[in-house]
Amino acid sequence: MESREKERIYRLDREGRLSEAEYAKLIRDRDEEASELLAELAVKKRKAVFGDAVYIRGLIEISSICRNNCLYCGIRRDNRKADRYRLTKEEILSCADEGYGLGFRTFVLQGGEDPYYADDVLCEIVSEIKRVHPDCAVTLSLGERSRESYQKLCDAGADRYLLRHETADAEHYSKLHPKEMSFENRMRCLTDLKEIGYQVGCGFMVGSPFQTNETLAKDLKFIEMFRPDMCGIGPFIPHHETPFGGEKPGTVECTLFLLSVIRLILPEVLLPATTALGTLDPNGREKGILAGANVVMPNLSPVEVRKKYELYDNKICTGEESAQCLQCLEARMSSVGYHLVTDRGDSPEHLRKRTKKVSV
Ligand code: SAM
Ligand code: FES
Repeated sequence: MESREKERIYRLDREGRLSEAEYAKLIRDRDEEASELLAELAVKKRKAVFGDAVYIRGLIEISSICRNNCLYCGIRRDNRKADRYRLTKEEILSCADEGYGLGFRTFVLQGGEDPYYADDVLCEIVSEIKRVHPDCAVTLSLGERSRESYQKLCDAGADRYLLRHETADAEHYSKLHPKEMSFENRMRCLTDLKEIGYQVGCGFMVGSPFQTNETLAKDLKFIEMFRPDMCGIGPFIPHHETPFGGEKPGTVECTLFLLSVIRLILPEVLLPATTALGTLDPNGREKGILAGANVVMPNLSPVEVRKKYELYDNKICTGEESAQCLQCLEARMSSVGYHLVTDRGDSPEHLRKRTKKVSV
């Protein structure tokens, strides 16, 4: 590593920001030494805020039916071979009940953009989970909706919303999505969610087709400016029944590097070590934690539907019981000196804002 590169990394650690051109250089010039230094600084920053805690979120994949046709995604509309399912309100509630018994205090309802989940249906599900488990947070990850819809869901009790921006470069966005989807609408959704008062998560795939060091630099700048509460990044993995089926996957190495950089930009961010990372490398999630991540999202979906929520090839954790999944994660985290915690794990910045509002 050159001394200029080292200086850049220490400045990022001190100031939490670089110019877009510097982010691109940081990525382009990276080597093992730079990654190690970044990980060391990222772990120090994360420990100062969160100690050794790794937060767990119970992921309930509520539907594999989607009206969208994102070119990278295994459950896109045009994949005629996909085996589709949709969970009923009762099934979702029973996943949450099971998760509660296992210690989960956050439930993430994720799925394709399935028109069945109109506002009234979804609001009823959210408010019922909150009624039965008032000490839990509900996170939604159900794609693009109108501002009115986001507002209704928030009023029904939803606390957080995950919507990856996918790429902060409009032209790159148009190469990953069909014509009817737009970068402007994605950004509109993220702004609405923040203004409404959700804890908001953005994020992107590492190594998606047409991604460059320059588009990644834009992603980092966007994260720096938008200041999300959560940030989901994981490697792109091709799915054989999509237009990108023959593309190269992203790398674990670059994902770990970017996890550390994001931790230095936003010391308080909730940063998952994703299933995609664990799919590319059997120790991917542990490596993610050692690079600065602090969240894992075990699967709480009914075992019989898990294989059908196939976003990419060879996705892991599609066969285990939730309890087994959790025990295995616990063992994995303690093997690298961390422990799973079961509290809600809200974003520290969000909690401060709320306390301020209450005390005024
Ligand atoms: N429909 C919702 C949305 O669009 O936000 C949530 C479901 S979507 C499947 C969740 C995320 O999966 C996407 O934001 C995308 O980044 C990720 N994803 C989709 N296909 C992928 C692939 N082939 N490899 C890695 N991640 C993928
Ligand atoms: Fe809709 Fe992936 S295209 S969830």
